[in-house]
Amino acid sequence: MKLNIAVLAGDGIGPEIIDQAIKVVNAVCEKKGHEAIYTEALTGAAAIDAVGDPYPESTHKVCMDADAVLFGAIGHPKFDNDPNAKVRPEQGLLRMRKQLGLYANLRPVETFPSLLHKSPLRKDLVEGANFMCIRELTGGIYFGEKGRSEDGNMAFDNCVYTREEIERILKLGFEYAMKRNKKLTVVDKANVLETSRLWRQIAQEMAPNYPEVDTQYMFVDNAAMQIIQWPKNFDVMVTENMFGDILTDEASVITGSLGLLPSASIGLHTSVFEPIHGSYPQAAGKNIANPIATVLSAALMFEYAFDLKDEAEMIRKAVTASLEQSFVTEDIDKENAKKTSEVGDWLADYIRKNG
Ligand code: IPM
Ligand code: MG
Repeated sequence: MKLNIAVLAGDGIGPEIIDQAIKVVNAVCEKKGHEAIYTEALTGAAAIDAVGDPYPESTHKVCMDADAVLFGAIGHPKFDNDPNAKVRPEQGLLRMRKQLGLYANLRPVETFPSLLHKSPLRKDLVEGANFMCIRELTGGIYFGEKGRSEDGNMAFDNCVYTREEIERILKLGFEYAMKRNKKLTVVDKANVLETSRLWRQIAQEMAPNYPEVDTQYMFVDNAAMQIIQWPKNFDVMVTENMFGDILTDEASVITGSLGLLPSASIGLHTSVFEPIHGSYPQAAGKNIANPIATVLSAALMFEYAFDLKDEAEMIRKAVTASLEQSFVTEDIDKENAKKTSEVGDWLADYIRKNG
């Protein structure tokens, strides 16, 4: 099979971790007789520096023409510390999501037995935790009208959701629950927010269509607490854009490292596969960042964009083996840390020998 992959490495550690994912994809392609064709394109601060736009039209075209997008990370401290910057790298990511119609961000939270000791939670709480966060990605406060008063002393960000936006993401939530353990948690703030009340109303209308699914409703503050206290109680969680952003960072660390969790963004056009962590500028160019979240994002790419489940499994097996043998970067094992590129080589090698 021909795999047309757009590669948007972005900023910070983006290029280093993407390189490792590409090594792994190439190894899988060699074993399985696929041909991967990569087209690189600019995004984030790198694109602002080069052409003044974090998601230029030329990059959008590359994404639209591809079968899948492999995305590294974006963000740069020079913009974080300048609240008045007119153009920001993050706007590129948000525009990409909007223009590609990527309304659903799937963030699987899975624990690895060999890493349980790295979790900030007690082993008995976290062992076996495995749930899917489905985050709405193209609506809500991220995309509502925003602005400042003339004197600059008042600011606002509107949170807007339409029935259509809510229905399509909830539908995905119910469908995933049906494929998994038939439990759906709808996370909102319906005791305060009107948008949340509309979410809950629509979820209640849809729930009878999925009689086998045990549908629960949970306020977001309570959900933040329960993820820490009883992570094993969750199966599929569906929520709006900003709640999902916050809860998935929280959920990711219970696995032991933020550097492990992949994500898939799906919707109307080409799907995007990216680690959930950021650009980690302090580590950029040092060859120390954990490439596993990006490598596992490539596994999701095989599964979701190409329907190649065996190929995805080959990657997951290699990752599990590297964790079991502790061939890992410094976030997991400071004393015997391997370099980013060494982990990438090891994984590709494992796939060539064992896949
Ligand atoms: C994420 C990130 C982004 C978001 C940032 C970089 C704009 O935190 O993908 O979770 O808030 O969506
Ligand atoms: Mg985030």
